[in-house]
Amino acid sequence: MSATDATPAARAAAEPQPFTPPPGFRFGAATAAYQIEGSTLADGRGESIWDRFAHTPGMVLNGDTGDVACDHYRRWRQDLDLMASLQIESYRFSIAWPRILPTGNGTVNQRGLDFYKRLAEGLRERGIEPVATLYHWDLPQALQNAGGWAQRDTALRFAEYARIVGAELGGVVESWITQNEPWCTAFLGHAYGTKAPGIRDWPTALRVSHHLLLSHGLAAQALRAALPDSAEVGIALNLFPVVPARDDEEHHEAARIRDGYVNRWFLDPVFRGAYPEDMVQQYERETGTAFDAPQDGDMDIISAPNDFLGVNYYNPMRVEPSDEAPLRVRDATSVGPVTGMGWEIKPAGLREVLARVRTEYQDLPIMITENGSAFDDGAVVDGHLDDPQRLAYLAGHLEAVGQAIADGSDVRRYHVWSLLDNFEWEEGYDQRFGIVHVDFDSQARTPKASALFYRDYIDRARKD
Ligand code: FCB
Repeated sequence: MSATDATPAARAAAEPQPFTPPPGFRFGAATAAYQIEGSTLADGRGESIWDRFAHTPGMVLNGDTGDVACDHYRRWRQDLDLMASLQIESYRFSIAWPRILPTGNGTVNQRGLDFYKRLAEGLRERGIEPVATLYHWDLPQALQNAGGWAQRDTALRFAEYARIVGAELGGVVESWITQNEPWCTAFLGHAYGTKAPGIRDWPTALRVSHHLLLSHGLAAQALRAALPDSAEVGIALNLFPVVPARDDEEHHEAARIRDGYVNRWFLDPVFRGAYPEDMVQQYERETGTAFDAPQDGDMDIISAPNDFLGVNYYNPMRVEPSDEAPLRVRDATSVGPVTGMGWEIKPAGLREVLARVRTEYQDLPIMITENGSAFDDGAVVDGHLDDPQRLAYLAGHLEAVGQAIADGSDVRRYHVWSLLDNFEWEEGYDQRFGIVHVDFDSQARTPKASALFYRDYIDRARKD
């Protein structure tokens, strides 16, 4: 029996008791510009590194691109209505830098700003709080041509972009995220080359990581100067519990390194004003290149206080030693159920990373900026799509949010990734993360059972 055809009593009995949301808490959903908007040539938008990357043969599965995606640039009003019908209280979207500054700097494209202003106003009209991300990976290609994030100057350009957007949207958007997952941009984009701009060079990736963190600090300054005092600014990091596959010294060593690579390389600069020394040494030894991107004063800019930390959580990492430089760690076989991406499912990992931030770094307000799962969904039949695995993933992680709050984490928002099935980067349209199904031929939207579960969950959390 499916979640949608069960009797109301049976459904209520099967449904978990929602946690009690603390005052001000909001349940939300997240997306990103290149993954949903389409209309990549509309209204003066410039080319981004993801347009270039997706149009390069062999980079994205099936040759998929974001040219049309969910056609959200034209259908945003319906998408906002849809969100309102699902009781969504907070919406995290990203702003495409090449819509605002088509060549990365210079002339401002007012039509780009107007789009996001209308979007943010449309959210407010529907009682949904906007959360704007400035960088969700779509660097203007013109800046890439000048060296991209490997150039320090790009961080300065980013601060200028932040100032422009902050001045225009500051009256409508209160919550701001500078960078989304700098680990992905730096290392997947510049060491492994699986994401745009597709560079494979470790010393470059390390420079990039520093410039991304610097850009966060500079953009935060620029936003604060442009925004009202009530505005809040943070960064979104993807955090992973790292688990040694075996309980011996080599595996614990591998876990230390992986943790340094994915978590501490970003948490330490932001909260302690310094890169982890063990990782600096490892990188310098293994690459034979000095890590000399940081300049005097940078670490103070990077470690200036944040109003909140954005946390993206998907899965734990199970690791074992390997011979491959520079990290000498690799993924071990997952234990237990995995998602369509092959990511291990472990809701307790969310509680774990939040406890770590609170106890090892800072007890600051937390926004869960992303959490979700891709599965090979069946077809829509008579307007219904049952996605029991995604529903269970969502229910399990909502429970973990409640537990983290009970533990003492100051969680203010939860955003499910994602509102819509969308362009999943190098996986193209194959991996579906949406709680709402998108038919990419007709652009029809169909809330999956997980979306209806979430709607009812929010409803019950508000009534209890
Ligand atoms: C995160 C990205 C987001 C989406 C999810 C599945 O790393 O921030 O855009 O692709 O993964």
